[in-house]
Amino acid sequence: MEFENILFTVEEGIATITINRPKQANALNAATVRDIEKAVDYIAGSKDVQVVIITGAGDKFFVAGADIKEMADYNPKQAGDWGTYGAGVITKIERLPQPVICAVNGYALGGGCEISMACDFRYASDNAVFGQPEVGLGIIPGFGGTQRLARLVGPGMAKEIILSNQNIDSAEALRIGLVNKVVPQAELMPAAIKTAKKIMKQGPVAVQIAKKAINNGLQCDIITGIQFESNVFGLCFATKDQKEGMKAFMEKRKADFKGE
Ligand code: CAA
Repeated sequence: MEFENILFTVEEGIATITINRPKQANALNAATVRDIEKAVDYIAGSKDVQVVIITGAGDKFFVAGADIKEMADYNPKQAGDWGTYGAGVITKIERLPQPVICAVNGYALGGGCEISMACDFRYASDNAVFGQPEVGLGIIPGFGGTQRLARLVGPGMAKEIILSNQNIDSAEALRIGLVNKVVPQAELMPAAIKTAKKIMKQGPVAVQIAKKAINNGLQCDIITGIQFESNVFGLCFATKDQKEGMKAFMEKRKADFKGE
């Protein structure tokens, strides 16, 4: 696969997407979003990928947002189409069957913060900065930011961040639950890979079903969500992984999951 603005690797079950436009702060122009979509579509259909890590190239920027220079002269129709396209690609990240860890290695502003929030959870380097600075440009977040930030940190905190164009540092992001862990830059990818490997030791089918149950539940009322959980809990007992996982427990050995 050929890419213009991302690096893409699959090694030992871990797919890594590195957004790589260093001269423009890894900002998301259309070509970069197309690259991300191509990688995500590949991952969605891959049996080899068990966990995904998304990060940015370098040690200063994760992604400094959608490309302002590219958007500046858009008319409302072009801007609406761009928002629909970018938000759609970011939703594809959220809907990947595999768990996705975001390793936020610096500024995650606008579309960068929005990509990170579509991942299952976020680790940040200690120099990371999060924000949705769009109102300072006379626009609003356009790749899902108003929706996902409010769901992740609550409407009051999301409104303060978005309405007052308040960037927050990694310590504050940790405090409000936007990130799960803050580590020095050099330890960021090792920390993400360590957790990826821990996930890969679990029953692969169960991991994907658990992700889906959580995501589905966040879109509906709790009773419907619990009903979905009960249904897929039952389905787990149709897998070889369940037989192996429970047999291994009773035989006091590690499970040898096949993902079936
Ligand atoms: N779009 C296009 N280019 C960008 C960019 C962006 N979002 N962010 C940074 N760049 C470019 C800069 O213009 C600069 O390029 P030149 O050298 O060619 O001028 C280069 O990247 C490096 O940036 P800076 O010189 O500004 O670096 P800095 O360290 O002084 O500042 C920063 C870093 C605080 C991140 C600053 O670049 C900044 O504020 N960027 C814009 C952040 C922003 O407003 N993001 C929201 C975009 S809108 C959006 O994302 C909408 C949406 O929801 C879809």
